[in-house]
Amino acid sequence: MNFKVPNSVIIKGTGKYVPEKMMTNDDLAKIVDTSDEWIYTRSGIKQRHIAAPDEASSDMGVNAARNAIEAAGISSEDIDLVIVTTVTPDMMFPSTACLLQAKLGIRNNIPCFDLNAACTGFVYGIEVATRMMKSGLYRHALVVSAEKMTSIVDWEDRTTCVLFGDGAGAVVLAASDEENAGILGSVLGADGSDTAMLKLPAGGSLMPATAETVKNKLHFLQMDGKEVFKHAVKIMQEKALEVLDLCKVNPEQISMLIPHQANARIIESVAKRLKITSDKVYINIAKYGNTSSATIPMALDELVRENKIKCGDYILLVAFGAGLTWGATLIKWQ
Ligand code: COA
Repeated sequence: MNFKVPNSVIIKGTGKYVPEKMMTNDDLAKIVDTSDEWIYTRSGIKQRHIAAPDEASSDMGVNAARNAIEAAGISSEDIDLVIVTTVTPDMMFPSTACLLQAKLGIRNNIPCFDLNAACTGFVYGIEVATRMMKSGLYRHALVVSAEKMTSIVDWEDRTTCVLFGDGAGAVVLAASDEENAGILGSVLGADGSDTAMLKLPAGGSLMPATAETVKNKLHFLQMDGKEVFKHAVKIMQEKALEVLDLCKVNPEQISMLIPHQANARIIESVAKRLKITSDKVYINIAKYGNTSSATIPMALDELVRENKIKCGDYILLVAFGAGLTWGATLIKWQ
């Protein structure tokens, strides 16, 4: 096994995938008592994509991963670590990462595992991959965030079903000899003291599936939107400042803030508190809704493919999610 400690870990390729079927707010208004006006003004969402019944998170992840591998100019043979972040794994086990490994024909004998930090999953995922790569043992890591959120929302609950969508984003991380490039630093955290704010209660070891749990709709996501909103604004601002401080970079030096896309109003509040102007904040929630951990890599891929990121740019990622979990990462684009 080659063993060479890299000077940095860079993002070598990005990819995204969204399912073909799209549902507008007007389509939703035919199912639940809501309106395009309410959804758009409260959340910034106009439409979301819905995976086909037989399309699982691993299938969406495979498509995003193929795009990222191609963009990186490597082959799946070169991948030596796979992390999939998801709250909607194909099944309890084996992990979605193992299923994706097989579907992509990635070689055996490398670590493949799922990571669940809810909507913060991608930020956790790239930090874990970066730390593993800095050991010198891995040269190319595939981090895939794939979420079929529409499989866990209650389509009769208008307070949640209007907010989520399906999709996947992926990056290929590469070990590099460049100094001061790529993933410069991350701060991660969690507070498990108030899990009721956002959870999916049944289907695990605490409450295995029974006719009763199904009848009581306990296999659907439950959320106290107002509480989540308050925490999100505060935590995202704090963690963004913390990672900037860690890396000795000022908010004015940021070229692009890519926040988790849960609500446009949350993002605007965070940007305002950080004094980052709207031209430097990426918001694409109107097109996809909240795709949980996939929002950030999907947004990153769009920016890269639209040539909106150039070498030397400081890119700030910040996310929060169920747990609660949170994380922020600073990248110097290479
Ligand atoms: N359509 C129409 N009306 C709706 C509705 C919908 N889809 N959903 C809720 N309402 C109603 C409520 O019943 C309430 O009516 P009432 O005043 O008669 O009781 C009213 O609209 C206001 O609801 P409220 O919950 O106060 O709205 P809000 O401004 O807080 O916005 C969220 C709700 C969910 C959009 C917002 O709280 C939010 O985005 N929170 C964060 C969620 C999040 O980010 N989750 C993911 C974390 S990763």
